[in-house]
Amino acid sequence: MSETQPIEQVLVLVKPDGVARGLIGQVIARAEARGYQVAQLALRRATPELLALHYADHVVKPFYPALVEYMTSGPVVAIVLEGAQVITAFRTMAGATDPVKAAPGTIRGDFGRDWGDGEIRNIVHASDSPESAAREIAIWFPEA
Ligand code: RTP
Ligand code: MG
Repeated sequence: MSETQPIEQVLVLVKPDGVARGLIGQVIARAEARGYQVAQLALRRATPELLALHYADHVVKPFYPALVEYMTSGPVVAIVLEGAQVITAFRTMAGATDPVKAAPGTIRGDFGRDWGDGEIRNIVHASDSPESAAREIAIWFPEA
């Protein structure tokens, strides 16, 4: 395979539980250790309006009200990572949505757990496709 891969960008969020538990550095350190560049970085507060855009596919889902409560419970760190195939690579590094099922070695599998309240708190978000990444980066970094 001699084709070169386009440089990709992915939107990563360190979610409120990740920020509150002091895991910002761990998330960035793993991305940097893997060799990806940090292209944008900001500490933000998610509003319900912003989340309705970011999680547009989930607005109608039964878990959406709890997701908004979770994502507005504290500040988040928004990060744009850059590199060939970074979307697939960082999704793999994040691990399965449910931290209980996330493999050891992944961010969710190493730092997450079931806290016994029926809510999923899983430390990071990562865009799942080039289209999602472009859409989400425009939401979180409109000036870029
Ligand atoms: P994310 O978008 O945050 O990177 O997570 P994901 O792709 O792994 O999972 P997704 O299906 O897109 O769900 C987005 C977030 O909604 C919450 N969720 N709760 N209670 C539930 O069944 C449930 N399902 C999803 C999680 O915070 C999940 O990360
Ligand atoms: Mg998702």
